Amino acid sequence: MAQSPVIMLGIESSCDETAAAIVAADKTIYANEIASQIETHAKHGGVVPEVAARAHLEMIDQVIRDALATAGLTMGDIDAVAATGGPGLIGGVAVGTVTAKAIAAARQIPYFAVNHLEGHALSPRLADDVAFPYLLLLVSGGHTQLLAVVGPGDYRRYGTTMDDAAGEAFDKCAKAMGLGYPGGPAIEAAAKSGDAKAIALPRPLKGSAGCHFSFSGLKTALVNRLSQFGGPEAAPIADLAASLQAAIADCLADRTKAALTRFRDEFPHDDANQPALVIAGGVAANQHIFAVLQRVAADANFRLSVPPAKLCTDNAAMIAWAALERFDRPDDLAFAPRPRWPLDPEASPPPGRGVRQ
Ligand code: KG4
Ligand code: ZN
Repeated sequence: MAQSPVIMLGIESSCDETAAAIVAADKTIYANEIASQIETHAKHGGVVPEVAARAHLEMIDQVIRDALATAGLTMGDIDAVAATGGPGLIGGVAVGTVTAKAIAAARQIPYFAVNHLEGHALSPRLADDVAFPYLLLLVSGGHTQLLAVVGPGDYRRYGTTMDDAAGEAFDKCAKAMGLGYPGGPAIEAAAKSGDAKAIALPRPLKGSAGCHFSFSGLKTALVNRLSQFGGPEAAPIADLAASLQAAIADCLADRTKAALTRFRDEFPHDDANQPALVIAGGVAANQHIFAVLQRVAADANFRLSVPPAKLCTDNAAMIAWAALERFDRPDDLAFAPRPRWPLDPEASPPPGRGVRQ
């Protein structure tokens, strides 16, 4: 009789989503449950770490129960358990880690501490048959990175942000403009009736060597323009939103172009083997940014792959999948949660002061 595929329970709790998923080694997603804390954090205009940690603790058991119920499985059907072990807000990571270890110890099943960034990096392989190596642009509220994904555990970071992540820039600018949280969707909606050329904004690091990003200068420029107009009530919000969105898209496109060139040099291929550019993270939902990156990929003869939103924003299915990709190498229960955990420890730090992961 054929052996049934391994079933992995995944847990994600590194930011503002408490998530549990059940994924099989044959890529069947039995459940992918997410309890968002957006409403809690919207009151504060952003994520408050202590509030997030408490919310994870309150929600995690129920989210796991929901995942089992959705899958129609019991804990006895789970063959292994994986949780995000970092990087992220340490209180939340600790909640997920302790929960996963307790399940592993009680059931005597393997435990995996998964790097959250690795979850994002490998998620396209769960959704789509993307072959190694590929180039990943990860753009979310917490990360902005360009990574060559060579194989499980084998990553080359080409670029990261020196300061804010792209989604963070959307969120901070939206807050300044009085558009609420999360900012990305609000700015995209406001931009629809605006003129992207109306307000001149900088394109930090555009054309510079390497593939790093910087967004905090853009945010400062936007805040300055707002006050020149006499504050958000008097400012042309639609034009500002469209101009900001265009500036962020321009920066992402320019840095991605540079990364595609580097990737081609390091992983030569012929025309029959078109490599993939994968975009993951919440910002990939932005239609203008998606269209701009689609052009960049096509010009460089790369195939563009974007995992469905449920797999490319923070979720636990990607954590379960990253563990399944290295099922032969579980982790020790002594693993300690890591607030910082670079995927590529060899990567050169970005120019300037910041060393973001
Ligand atoms: O991947 P994600 O759900 O969570 C993490 O941060 O890991 O990404 C959330 C981020 C937020 O900063 C949000 O403003 C941004 O993605 N975002 C968008 C859009 N939808 C979400 N940014 C621009 N345009 C959008 N339509
Ligand atoms: Zn993330």
